[in-house]
Amino acid sequence: MPSLTIHRPAFLAVFLSIIAISLQLAAPSSIYHELEANQSCRCTAFNSSCWPSAQSWQDFNRSIDGRLIALSPPASPCHDPNFNAQACRTAQQRWGFPFWRADQPGAMQASNWEALGRFTCLINSPRNSTCFQGSVATYAVNATESRHIQAAIALAQARNLRIVIKNTGHDYLGRSTAPGALMIWTHNLREIVYHEKFAPMGCTIRAEDPPAMTIGAGIQWEDLYAAAFNRNHVVVGGGSSSVGGAGGNPMGAGHGPLSPLHGLAADNVLELKLVTADGRLIVANRCQNRDLYWALRGGGGGTFGVVVSLTHRLYPPLTNIVYASYSFMASSRRAFRDLLVKFTELHPSLERAGWSGVFAMSNVTALSMTYLLPNRNVSFANATLAPLERFAQSSGSSIQLNASLQNFPSFQQWHLVIQCGGAPDCRELNSSTTQSLATAGIPLLLASRLIPRATIQSSPNATADAFIAIQDRFPLVSITGIFVAGGSVSRPRNNAVNPAWRRALWHVILGISWMELGDLEEERIAARNVSAANQFLVDLTPGSGAYGNEGDFNEPRWQRTFFGASYPRLLAIKRRADPAGMFRCRHCVGSEIWSEDLNCPAGIAQEDQPLVSSF
Ligand SMILES: Cc1cc2nc3c(=O)[nH]c(=O)nc-3n(C[C@H](O)[C@H](O)[C@H](O)COP(=O)(O)OP(=O)(O)OC[C@H]3O[C@@H](n4cnc5c(N)ncnc54)[C@H](O)[C@@H]3O)c2cc1C
Ligand SMILES: *[C@@H]1O[C@H](CO)[C@@H](O)[C@H](O)[C@H]1NC(C)=O
Ligand SMILES: *[C@@H]1O[C@H](CO)[C@@H](O)[C@H](O)[C@H]1NC(C)=O
Ligand SMILES: *[C@@H]1O[C@H](CO)[C@@H](O)[C@H](O)[C@H]1NC(C)=O
Ligand SMILES: *[C@@H]1O[C@H](CO)[C@@H](O)[C@H](O)[C@H]1NC(C)=O
Ligand SMILES: *[C@@H]1O[C@H](CO)[C@@H](O)[C@H](O)[C@H]1NC(C)=O
Ligand SMILES: *[C@@H]1O[C@H](CO)[C@@H](O)[C@H](O)[C@H]1NC(C)=O
Ligand SMILES: *[C@@H]1O[C@H](CO)[C@@H](O)[C@H](O)[C@H]1NC(C)=O
Ligand SMILES: *[C@@H]1O[C@H](CO)[C@@H](O)[C@H](O)[C@H]1NC(C)=O
Ligand SMILES: *[C@@H]1O[C@H](CO)[C@@H](O)[C@H](O)[C@H]1NC(C)=O
Ligand SMILES: *[C@@H]1O[C@H](CO)[C@@H](O)[C@H](O)[C@H]1NC(C)=O
Ligand SMILES: *[C@@H]1O[C@H](CO)[C@@H](O)[C@H](O)[C@H]1NC(C)=O
Ligand SMILES: *[C@@H]1O[C@H](CO)[C@@H](O)[C@H](O)[C@H]1NC(C)=O
Repeated sequence: MPSLTIHRPAFLAVFLSIIAISLQLAAPSSIYHELEANQSCRCTAFNSSCWPSAQSWQDFNRSIDGRLIALSPPASPCHDPNFNAQACRTAQQRWGFPFWRADQPGAMQASNWEALGRFTCLINSPRNSTCFQGSVATYAVNATESRHIQAAIALAQARNLRIVIKNTGHDYLGRSTAPGALMIWTHNLREIVYHEKFAPMGCTIRAEDPPAMTIGAGIQWEDLYAAAFNRNHVVVGGGSSSVGGAGGNPMGAGHGPLSPLHGLAADNVLELKLVTADGRLIVANRCQNRDLYWALRGGGGGTFGVVVSLTHRLYPPLTNIVYASYSFMASSRRAFRDLLVKFTELHPSLERAGWSGVFAMSNVTALSMTYLLPNRNVSFANATLAPLERFAQSSGSSIQLNASLQNFPSFQQWHLVIQCGGAPDCRELNSSTTQSLATAGIPLLLASRLIPRATIQSSPNATADAFIAIQDRFPLVSITGIFVAGGSVSRPRNNAVNPAWRRALWHVILGISWMELGDLEEERIAARNVSAANQFLVDLTPGSGAYGNEGDFNEPRWQRTFFGASYPRLLAIKRRADPAGMFRCRHCVGSEIWSEDLNCPAGIAQEDQPLVSSF
């Protein structure tokens, strides 16, 4: 048993000063203070000598109005001893649907975060095969009021428990679950309040105060899109409407189709209400708790407190919106490369025209784009994309193009018809006609890079070559380009958003899945491959960064890559707001001082922690 106390390990100090030096910013020396010598490992359910007794949990449950949930993996009703035919059928039918998964406290969107190594709970394995708890936390507080969250923090403080915050479970680095932890589940904090003019609390009322919507932390973009539409406004939300509107998404930046028009989600947050690491309920805005207000807009979820509600700025409705769906097929590699060069070269002018959207390629013949142009008509849209049509025409038969332009009267119409497959609400994404939208519930790992405007302008050939090299070397890696930067995103704001966003036009995501959850060798190769593939984009864009919410789980220089020059100030704020590390998550601000599983100070191994549980 190693000693659980550490005395200013030299490597830690060196490591931290390397971070400071590599960021080339003077950091106050106080933020690199040694850990207090009495810091021990956080208590998890695997340690029966510290974990609260059944009676303590019962008392705690009573104190939070019976809102304590014993968590289990989403496939558990398909296995003994919890087999339940009807619940199992529902789980099988809804397995891939993002909204269903967000409603399950034990489910994550990507199934690899429910597994712990090879220990997992499969949906289609025999009833009598063991359902392991895996990475699913032990208990959750199903919070509907801030005092439920305060009670969880108080218990964690008193008993040194490992806490994790979960909203929708979309996190691509698995940051909304932790084995053996007490989860604070924010999904059922569901208020929505409209303000015709919003003056942040404690600020003087100003004539130019904008309209806004205050949402509980559990509200998803789907809910907020509808609420804003009903008030005849738009809000900057995510491209995927099952993502949370007040959790890790806006706190980590939050991009969406309206970002080039109105900025990132974080750029439009006017106020947050949160429970701090010491259990206080506070408000952060431009007039009070200004450091936290700065940090919570870009510094990431799960780090500075538990957000209870958040206020988004609203904008006037769009006059209309043009949707472009273009799909190209090239008959040769050469033709495909020429196409990619042309496509890249056109983007600075597409930015000026106001476009946003998504492009995708999965091999060296096919490129598709689904783009969006707010407040412009179809003929203008056609004229700005005409160079691509002309290019395809002039290439004879070597490039085939199917192109369509469609006009919609509002953002909401576009969202429902295109994104929800014509359903009245994306929550209905469970019918057979929308099966193609059942994309969750599989293992998935990403890596990504923010591609600067300067790279796109000056090196279209090298950009095309990087995409082709990735497809050639890593045929199982998919490339998705998210054209959501530029325009209003380029305007600097006084918040913690990674400055690389301000210089970018594209956020390019590489994704990889693998067949069998729990096959460690496959998972290891997939993880290595997606990181190696991303190196082509890193080499293309020296000095840029990446979006931490859709980044690489194994990103080596994550402080610099995910936060850039914002990091030293974020770390200083973290040290003040949460000196004992109540809130910890993978590649989150301040996490470098903890062990890989985040339970212990770095360098202390938790020797007798089992890798698996099966509650
Ligand atoms: C299918 C899919 C589509 C996506 N599309 C987009 C997109 O269009 N644009 C975009 O910007 N991103 C997108 N993302 C990434 C998304 O922004 C991140 O996954 C984000 O972390 C999700 O936040 P959440 O709160 O919904 O999820 P969760 O996984 O529940 O939480 C994410 C992180 O935030 C913390 N957190 C959650 N709630 C709170 C709270 N109330 N207080 C404090 N911390 C909290 C959690 O602890 C965790 O660290 C997408 C992800 C997926 C899987
Ligand atoms: C388990 O808890 C006890 C009591 O708090 C503590 O002394 C011990 O170090 C813990 N073990 C681990 C592996 O964390
Ligand atoms: C908490 O109490 C409620 C109400 O009594 C009960 O339904 C629930 O099962 C309890 N939770 C746990 C984990 O025991
Ligand atoms: C599960 O059941 C099958 C037959 O129904 C049997 O062959 C198998 O041995 C059982 N497996 C376990 C782990 O009990
Ligand atoms: C969580 O709370 C909500 C709101 O009270 C309730 O509808 C839901 O059933 C609860 N979920 C679980 C799993 O207990
Ligand atoms: C264009 O549409 C036709 C008919 O649907 C289809 O066969 C063809 O593959 C499409 N081509 C491209 C490039 O998408
Ligand atoms: C390339 O991808 C497209 C779209 O996914 C697909 O239709 C096509 O068959 C693929 N071509 C090759 C050669 O794999
Ligand atoms: C479309 O928009 C362009 C530029 O904004 C404008 O000049 C043109 O008149 C519009 N066309 C129609 C048919 O409204
Ligand atoms: C764009 O306009 C040209 C010329 O009118 C037309 O041939 C083409 O079909 C239009 N493209 C789309 C996608 O509508
Ligand atoms: C889809 O889900 C919604 C909401 O969860 C439900 O009301 C509806 O009946 C479901 N439809 C189908 C076809 O399962
Ligand atoms: C870039 O690629 C295009 C198309 O393949 C080619 O015509 C051009 O000469 C290349 N430019 C440079 C600078 O290599
Ligand atoms: C990883 O990359 C290697 C080499 O390109 C390839 O052979 C292998 O199939 C890839 N594996 C996965 C899981 O993507
Ligand atoms: C160390 O222990 C002291 C006294 O028990 C306590 O006040 C302090 O908060 C602890 N420090 C940390 C970082 O846990």
